[in-house]
Amino acid sequence: MLVGKLNSRKQGIVWLAVFCAWASVTYGQNRIGTGTVKKLYQNNCASCHGSKLQGGEGSSLIDDVWRHGASDEEIAATIRNGVPELGMLPWKGVLSDEEIRSLVIFIREQKQLSGRQELLDRVQPKGGVFKTERHDFKLVKVAKHKGTLWSLDFLPDGSILTTERNGDLWVVKEGKFIGPIKGTPKVWQHGQGGLLEVALHPKYEENGWVYLSFSESTKGESGGMTAVVRGRIKKGRWVDQEEIFHVPAKFYTKTGAHFGSRFVFKDDTLFFSIGDRGRKEMAQDLTRPNGKIHRVYDDGRIPEDNPFVGVVGAYPSIWSFGNRNAQGLDLHPLTGELWESEHGPRGGDEINKIQRGVNYGWPVITYGMNYNGTPITDITEKEGMARPVHYWTPSIAVCGIDFYEGDRFPGWKYDLFATGLASEE
Ligand code: HEC
Repeated sequence: MLVGKLNSRKQGIVWLAVFCAWASVTYGQNRIGTGTVKKLYQNNCASCHGSKLQGGEGSSLIDDVWRHGASDEEIAATIRNGVPELGMLPWKGVLSDEEIRSLVIFIREQKQLSGRQELLDRVQPKGGVFKTERHDFKLVKVAKHKGTLWSLDFLPDGSILTTERNGDLWVVKEGKFIGPIKGTPKVWQHGQGGLLEVALHPKYEENGWVYLSFSESTKGESGGMTAVVRGRIKKGRWVDQEEIFHVPAKFYTKTGAHFGSRFVFKDDTLFFSIGDRGRKEMAQDLTRPNGKIHRVYDDGRIPEDNPFVGVVGAYPSIWSFGNRNAQGLDLHPLTGELWESEHGPRGGDEINKIQRGVNYGWPVITYGMNYNGTPITDITEKEGMARPVHYWTPSIAVCGIDFYEGDRFPGWKYDLFATGLASEE
């Protein structure tokens, strides 16, 4: 899996790392127009609304004209109740609420797909320059590499540290990949797993600490989980390694899905994410580390004011739960709030503000459905669960986020940038 990570802090300009992406192919195919929901549409709706939703006896569902209400809820209600006076019978009782929700997601996806070429034409760079509402910019390739890169951070001299899924940690200097650094931890390279996040300690220039997360599996085990270490880089070697977070093998899960993982330092604590590891029900289980945002001191100790310290059985590093797969984390530069991007199911990508002890609802509430087009749920809210600040239906396959803090693009100052895998946007 690839992540475009944005880092604006050090350079005062936006660096957009767009590395090669098998992801765009897989995501594109998975997310749009395949699976059960497509059949549901073709069997029940296409006769009137057209096989491409272009309209016929029924109206077009991709022209953005909504005679009976444009919100997700209103479209679901139209499908449920029909428009009997114009010949569309109610689908209530024929289709479940979950199926109707999946049809709404499908309609949104098809609408986006139909407008895609026009959008691409509109944003095409002219003479290498992208024109946007507030600033024009150029996309500059800073280096080239064959592997699947996950994350990057800047060293004080402006060179880049970057992680590769196979476990390699590289230094990128003046356009060249140098390394890999010898002696980095052994990773469990499985599915989306491998070497993940890299970040320098905020006081790196004093203490030299570099933090890494990776998927870990101990010998003889058939599963794994995200782990965090810190170490120093001296003469091309990884040395002084200390364990910051790792779990006993009884918490391992076997899938190669959803490891997280991002870091944010705040004061003397470190926030990091672990995805649900493809076991969505565990995101609600406080005795499990997966599907959570965690908070530890920068040396790995547990802060006493973490919300579930003292709750019997709960994992004491948990800061928030019900998080499917957080692939972006950043602090708002003015308010200090922790913001998160959550890679959702099909149609359910989210941006959340992460607060202490809060349940973000996965998989009980979500705007999405399964990648194969089968429904998960029709509910998007429930008491005791936080709703996202923003969500994408259809999904963009959201990954890294960053608040822009540089000076080069004043119109973007403190704006949140989000990257999307599905169309490398
Ligand atoms: C027998 C024909 C027929 C079938 C089958 C049918 N519809 Fe409709 N549908 C219509 C008509 C007619 C309208 C009303 C168009 C208008 O108001 O001009 C409509 C309206 C709608 C609207 C509201 C559009 C708007 O402008 O607000 C939606 C959404 C919709 N249908 C979805 C579906 C879905 C999803 C299915 C399948 C589960 C379906 N329809 C099956 C004929 C049909």
